[in-house]
Amino acid sequence: MASRQRQRKEQVQEEVIDLEADITANTTADITVAADENIVTGFYPISDLEQHGIHSTDIRKLKEAGFCTVDSIIHATRKELLTVKGISEQKAEKLFNEAAKIIPMGFISASVVHQKRADIVLLETGSRELNRLLGGGIETGSLTEVFGEFRTGKTQLCHTLAVTCQIPVDCGGAEGRCLWLDTEGTFRPERIVAIAQARGLNVEETLDNISYVRVLNTDHQMNLLIQARSMMAEVRYSLVVIDSIINHYRTDFMGRGELAARQMHLGKFLRNLATIASEFGVAVVMTNQVVASVDGASGPYAADTKKPTGGHVLAHASTTRLYFKKGKGNNRVCKIYDSPNLPEGEATFAISNAGIVDAED
Ligand SMILES: Nc1ncnc2c1ncn2[C@@H]1O[C@H](COP(=O)(O)OP(=O)(O)OP(=O)(O)O)[C@@H](O)[C@H]1O
Ligand SMILES: [Mg+2]
Repeated sequence: MASRQRQRKEQVQEEVIDLEADITANTTADITVAADENIVTGFYPISDLEQHGIHSTDIRKLKEAGFCTVDSIIHATRKELLTVKGISEQKAEKLFNEAAKIIPMGFISASVVHQKRADIVLLETGSRELNRLLGGGIETGSLTEVFGEFRTGKTQLCHTLAVTCQIPVDCGGAEGRCLWLDTEGTFRPERIVAIAQARGLNVEETLDNISYVRVLNTDHQMNLLIQARSMMAEVRYSLVVIDSIINHYRTDFMGRGELAARQMHLGKFLRNLATIASEFGVAVVMTNQVVASVDGASGPYAADTKKPTGGHVLAHASTTRLYFKKGKGNNRVCKIYDSPNLPEGEATFAISNAGIVDAED
């Protein structure tokens, strides 16, 4: 009984923190991430700037700091560029001007945007109904958040996508590798083996195409993105998994005093992720936990009051938000919680040894 009470107390404390996160995020405009249109384009390697009069030493220093593409210069703020050793105000100015000659930053017509959106590759999930709900699958070039209670299949979806992202485009894949950031220690290569085998794929190759890292804390999580960028500039990656985005934030930042710092750190991490998604045309899939909303009613007729953690900072950063719920037996239900282009709706799928599959009757 005492442990139940303690559990409830901890839950309430977490709910208060999340509620406060919402309030803080709402009033601190500069730490929320702008809803980006995330148009997918091919990228220009930073070495292209050498032909535009940028010295090779500066290019090397920029690369070491994670600026591996011309696109990353366009996305960076002046302040960020100045943190790179050897980059002065004048050099930063020149970098911007030259990068803008390669990638125009002005207005484009909606028909060009329309064409670019039509070219976006979607990753199939393993379930036909889920694919249909998602308009084909998980979008590359933007951030998808999957949240839900434990055992709802968030990690299983990530395992399935880590395989499908590698298969040919006309088979529902994106012909790229997967980068897996694991904050919870729940990545299981044997699941990849089973999913690859069920699809008749070469198991060893499939495993070799997944770059895995166990994330130790939030600073490590942030720094890993620098390495991720240089890896993506070398070989084609089509998926980044972060399972889960919030785990270390909940323990690295404790209580009200550190709330603003937590949201600021999370906001910066998400902004870097959004840049990577559009820079390299990768699908970013992040899982998230839920909390029971404190203002929710209780009792048998109460509405589902669960909400994702992470406050408004995460809400604004995620392009598509999916809510996973338990169904009968191995079945699970996915609900579109928020999307700029998909209507509200639900799809039922199942978890099996072959990963995410069509629902059982
Ligand atoms: N090989 C398998 N075959 C069938 N079902 C499996 C297999 N492996 C795991 N599962 C099922 O998947 C479910 C767990 O899913 P998953 O690990 O994706 O949950 P989750 O949403 O990530 O939960 P958490 O919030 O705890 O991380 C369990 O119901 C488990 O029985
Ligand atoms: Mg999980």
